[in-house]
Amino acid sequence: MKFFIDTANLDEIKQAYKLGVLSGVTTNPSLVAKEGIKFETRIEEILQAVPELESVSAEVTPSAETAEQMIAEAEELIKINNGDKNITIKVPMTMAGLETTRYLSKKGVKTNVTLIFTVNQALLAARAGATYVSPFLGRLDDISEDGINLVAKIAELFRIHQIDAQIIAASVRHPDHVTRAALAGAHIATIPYKVIEQLTKHPLTDQGMEKFAADWKTV
Ligand code: E4P
Repeated sequence: MKFFIDTANLDEIKQAYKLGVLSGVTTNPSLVAKEGIKFETRIEEILQAVPELESVSAEVTPSAETAEQMIAEAEELIKINNGDKNITIKVPMTMAGLETTRYLSKKGVKTNVTLIFTVNQALLAARAGATYVSPFLGRLDDISEDGINLVAKIAELFRIHQIDAQIIAASVRHPDHVTRAALAGAHIATIPYKVIEQLTKHPLTDQGMEKFAADWKTV
């Protein structure tokens, strides 16, 4: 399973990138709004900061409701980085989102269909040509459903039908989500910076470091 970072914060992206574990970035309108910066400006900054990553997801704005509006926004986003291949257009799982996905995939533009909460939605997105499908684990868990079970079912279905779309486990809230998403067959987990930090930690690692440091002083 690969790691994407789920943030629009440039410092977090640059910091995580330095660790050498990142394959991509996902953003969404809420994450960009938190940054208090113009959407296109931030996407351009991210694309420039991490040019060689597999994918940087930029989402069409919530004001784009029709496929025509989504496609018009996508075309502007593609222009930002001279049509570079790592920009991925993130579209919502709606009828207009599917139509947009079909259009963009035929043009060779990568797409990430977001806000997926059922296996059927994932199957539709994949059949429309999505490069990535993003089931939201945490938001399902929040309403007492089982987000990991959804990932496992999508992975099984994609295996049975030999579907190439990659599953991004999204709305990841803690390290256990990451482990279980990997075991359930997610190709990618997109995770907040805080969770990336948490993944590096274990109390015995800290204790081990303290003991080594204390012993080293006695030499
Ligand atoms: C994924 O691409 C979304 O940006 C994200 O994972 C949503 O997570 P949230 O449910 O914590 O807002």
